[in-house]
Amino acid sequence: MAKEYSLKINKIQKVSTPFRKMVTDKFPVPASLAVINRLRKYEPRSMSGQPPVVWDHAVNFNVFDKYGNKWLDWSSGVLVANAGHSNPEIKKAMIKAINKDLLHNYCFPSEARANLTEKLAKILPNPLKKIFLLTTGSEAVEVCLKLARTNGQKVADKKKIGLVSFNAAFHGRTLGSQMIGGTPALKDWIVNVDKDMYNMPFPNCYRCPWGKSGYKGCDAECFANFTKLLGKRIGGSAKDKIAGVILESFQGAGATFAPKGFMKLLRKFCTANKIILICDEVQACFGRSGKLFSFMHYDIVPDLMTFGKGITSSMPLSAVAGRPDVMDIYEPNTMTSTHTGNPVCVAAALANIDYIIKHKLPQNAAKMGVLFKSELLKLQERHSDIIGGFQGEGLVFGVHIVKEGSKDPDGDLAHLIVGKSVEKGLMLFSPVGLGGGTVKICPPLTITAPAIKDGIKCFEEAIIAARKEMLGEGDNL
Ligand SMILES: Cc1ncc(COP(=O)(O)O)c(C=O)c1O
Repeated sequence: MAKEYSLKINKIQKVSTPFRKMVTDKFPVPASLAVINRLRKYEPRSMSGQPPVVWDHAVNFNVFDKYGNKWLDWSSGVLVANAGHSNPEIKKAMIKAINKDLLHNYCFPSEARANLTEKLAKILPNPLKKIFLLTTGSEAVEVCLKLARTNGQKVADKKKIGLVSFNAAFHGRTLGSQMIGGTPALKDWIVNVDKDMYNMPFPNCYRCPWGKSGYKGCDAECFANFTKLLGKRIGGSAKDKIAGVILESFQGAGATFAPKGFMKLLRKFCTANKIILICDEVQACFGRSGKLFSFMHYDIVPDLMTFGKGITSSMPLSAVAGRPDVMDIYEPNTMTSTHTGNPVCVAAALANIDYIIKHKLPQNAAKMGVLFKSELLKLQERHSDIIGGFQGEGLVFGVHIVKEGSKDPDGDLAHLIVGKSVEKGLMLFSPVGLGGGTVKICPPLTITAPAIKDGIKCFEEAIIAARKEMLGEGDNL
């Protein structure tokens, strides 16, 4: 059950470290409530799920309100600010684009769009050489579904329309993207869910769908289970019935990577059966997991991929990259989008990509990820009864908060841990994943070792405070 953070004012301790500053001793900051209440009045309730901090400005890996408080950001908004918030190079490029007096040009040719599509094609491996610029991640996913299904009908016949995805997958909130997602409860509203879409068990080694207690080199067995179950569900051969397989390069819900061997077998299976393999990198792209693109962890290349979030570190721009024969399926003017390649968003993307590559942010993410892993491991050892485990690579981690001594998610405790972290100056978005029990850690890729250590200390204080409060021993401090 999704939760809201209470607006009841708590007394909190002031904080001052090089990375966090809470000058207020009350939370939520009383003066901020007028804004929050206006939002609660005028926005849908679905928008009220995040901790009650009114963001005023954000710079690099810090977020500020206008009352003098400063948070260490472990959210990147929602895995967007890869190059740091308000990155000066991105700002400069956007201002230059704005001053050029071209704020929109639909699908008419533009130099900016040529620059960005060419840049993306050049940094991507074969065969990802055609690029379609869009606006949101969900839109990019919709395009992939459309291309894969159309391709299936082209290479076979009207029956090759099946689309396979995975349990717990998140691909967006529009009709098609939510339908292909892997959380049944989110699809209740759709009622007539496409019967040619199949959610399959994701090879999640923390909560193995096949009952194993962890990764045991069982990729081949896991993949055989997958194909066997798929065959049963489609009642025929994948070659005849399946047009596409879509998966997140890591599942966002837990920062869960599939085993490499599984992914290599999936790639082979798709090629052998003329199935389009789609890697959804809306949150995984541009260095987040310690490589420029997260599919690179598996030594495979998909046929189509999506980008979003970190492609600009700021502005709403997404994209699909893909095999030219698939990307070119649609006739002129039959696959377009009003805001494709908005000039200001494109300027942000170009500057962002240059910054990420020049400043070796994927490498920094990989290096900082090693530190994070060792710190999280120690934290897990100290709180092993309620931290069931953690998953992730680079600068994306999911910390699984569980009911004591089990793997059952404890959504209430996770929610409280995030709330306490924010009260202590560590910015996290509300928990995600199974039972809302996973606290996601995903700072800007510019983060430093001292900031990580400061954040871990704060996170542990929040865990202790949240546990006390759950036991009724809280003193709001
Ligand atoms: C893997 C993945 N795909 C798609 C989306 C949807 O993106 P958007 O919210 O921009 O539509 C998200 C958003 O979190 C995502 O993580």
